[in-house]
Amino acid sequence: MMQDDLQQRITDAVQNPKNLGEMKNADSVGTVGSPDCGDMLRMWVKFKSDDEGRKVIDRATFQTFGCETAIAVASVATELIAGKTVEEALSMSSSDLAAPLGALPPMKIHCAQLVEGALRSALAPDTAAPATAAASASNTGSLIESFTASGQKLPPKIVLKPSE
Ligand code: FES
Repeated sequence: MMQDDLQQRITDAVQNPKNLGEMKNADSVGTVGSPDCGDMLRMWVKFKSDDEGRKVIDRATFQTFGCETAIAVASVATELIAGKTVEEALSMSSSDLAAPLGALPPMKIHCAQLVEGALRSALAPDTAAPATAAASASNTGSLIESFTASGQKLPPKIVLKPSE
């Protein structure tokens, strides 16, 4: 069944998340919280020049106090955006970013929007992203400090420890 395949891909991504953890030498960072569930996600981005001299995303990493879907989408999205220009990455919708997992059920779409919001916040902090269900949050301090400052009660559903 389709849903079982989706759940299996999410479980696989959560058990072996890619690009998890703080990036010390990042060029950009974006943090957003979801008004839907109170979860929070931060994304770090490092740029490089590609062979044609274009500025592209070298790599991206994330931390989140979010559900399994948010972790899985962030894992696949950080892989998808590597090598893309800022414009190319910004042109991707939350469903584009989650595409390797398959179509998400309606109640999980905001989880992918959290990833899209953090990416937009990192790549284009000046442009609001009204299409996403994410609200920007402070990039200062650790993610857990931002989370606590947002008024959420600990413990969150899933805590991914910083990779320090
Ligand atoms: Fe909050 Fe999925 S339930 S990000």
